[in-house]
Amino acid sequence: MNNLKIHKFNEPLPENVDSAVRDLLCECFPSDREVFSHTRYWHGSAPVYSLVYREHNRVAGYVGIVVRKIKVDNVFVTIAGIQSLAVSGKLRGKGVGRQLMIEAINEAVKRDIYYGLLFCVPELERFYASLGWIKTSEKVMMADARNITMFKELAEEKFPNGDIDLQGRDW
Ligand SMILES: CC(C)(COP(=O)(O)OP(=O)(O)OC[C@H]1O[C@@H](n2cnc3c(N)ncnc32)[C@H](O)[C@@H]1OP(=O)(O)O)[C@@H](O)C(=O)NCCC(=O)NCCS
Repeated sequence: MNNLKIHKFNEPLPENVDSAVRDLLCECFPSDREVFSHTRYWHGSAPVYSLVYREHNRVAGYVGIVVRKIKVDNVFVTIAGIQSLAVSGKLRGKGVGRQLMIEAINEAVKRDIYYGLLFCVPELERFYASLGWIKTSEKVMMADARNITMFKELAEEKFPNGDIDLQGRDW
């Protein structure tokens, strides 16, 4: 599927969209339903902008972008953090997730953000790697160590080497 009509929102989302996105997140992350039935803000981190894909009048795809100043080897860098990429069950495997990621990163580039950062289960490494994301082998200081951490360079600048301090909880 190409040229999907994806809507971009600055936060906060309109209440009806927020509620529809939370329904999608409850579907896609059933073990975190308790959180997502109340808020999209994983670990309290609010996205700065979000992308929403609607089909048949419901929200079928979503990703939020958290902008955070993190510390890498004691140097502050601003990153676009991928939060809660989600595509409704029946629509998966058709390129919606890929398109959401591409447009989310294009928007980060427009906002002069040089790097992306995300956390995911190891099973998704291949999917993100196909979009140019790289698994870091650096130490990442965060509360939840189940996930791997991947970064993406969005401009010419190299992502710095060294321990990564998220300056807060993961998103
Ligand atoms: C991950 C997710 C957003 C992908 O959305 P999608 O619209 O199906 O993605 P696309 O169609 O663009 O691409 C699908 C690719 O991801 C891979 N993929 C998706 N889920 C996967 C999983 N759990 N394990 C391994 N690979 C997976 C598919 O195999 C496919 O790879 P291919 O292009 O080589 O065939 C969707 O599966 C989803 O919502 N999952 C549940 C929530 C989740 O885990 N989100 C990610 C949080 S980090």
